[in-house]
Amino acid sequence: MSDTIIKCHNISQIFKDGDTIIPVLDKIDFEIKHGENIAIMGASGAGKSTLLQLLGGLDTPTLGNVFIKGTDVSSVNAKKLGLLRNKYLGFVYQFHHLLPEFSALENVMMPLLIAKLNKSEAKQKATELLKRVGLMDRIKHRPGQLSGGERQRAAIARALVTNPACILADEPTGNLDESTATTVMNLMLELTEQQNNGLIVVTHDKSLANQMSKTYELTGGKLVLQ
Ligand SMILES: Nc1ncnc2c1ncn2[C@@H]1O[C@H](COP(=O)(O)OP(=O)(O)O)[C@@H](O)[C@H]1O
Ligand SMILES: [Mg+2]
Repeated sequence: MSDTIIKCHNISQIFKDGDTIIPVLDKIDFEIKHGENIAIMGASGAGKSTLLQLLGGLDTPTLGNVFIKGTDVSSVNAKKLGLLRNKYLGFVYQFHHLLPEFSALENVMMPLLIAKLNKSEAKQKATELLKRVGLMDRIKHRPGQLSGGERQRAAIARALVTNPACILADEPTGNLDESTATTVMNLMLELTEQQNNGLIVVTHDKSLANQMSKTYELTGGKLVLQ
């Protein structure tokens, strides 16, 4: 199997707001392979989240193509695309997006149940992941009963539990204090490196970006390798 996880070719994203045209991304080429970890930096409003959404198949570009494990995102229907995402990708956001009415364990089991694993298998895998992120004694807690750092670690466990080929993280530490941010970041790096998987992190933090194998700056709609 090819080493490439996500590849995009010549993608542009242009939003329309009434009569106003907002060009955000301008003919971007990008690729991430197994074992690579990549930081994307850039000013607020530069289009980092827009790019991540496109790379994750959550939206389609105005122009150009995105390939996830060789499949052109625009060539499959919504259901197939959902399966492709569930199989190969994991998402982490600045705000954890955990479901408030479910425990940490249930939240982490969710992607596995969606992937049609049986309940006991899902429970076992989710418990293992929660252990690895240091939340073993918190598995029955709901998100509201966890600290910010703990919630983010639970969100990372949820993103990683399916062993996705690539994690896409949009300012995952933006909401955390410095030392918690470092812990969370190291955890993501460690867990993806162990599995030889890919990691794309949008961050404003230079010292976090410096830990990655590649850093890009998104500016003027272009992705510039630093
Ligand atoms: N769905 C949308 N419709 C219209 N404009 C959008 C939409 N999504 C993002 N934008 C605009 O695109 C630009 C880039 O946004 P975003 O990708 O969120 O930037 P960043 O994540 O780098 O802060 C902003 O000007 C934003 O207002
Ligand atoms: Mg953003």
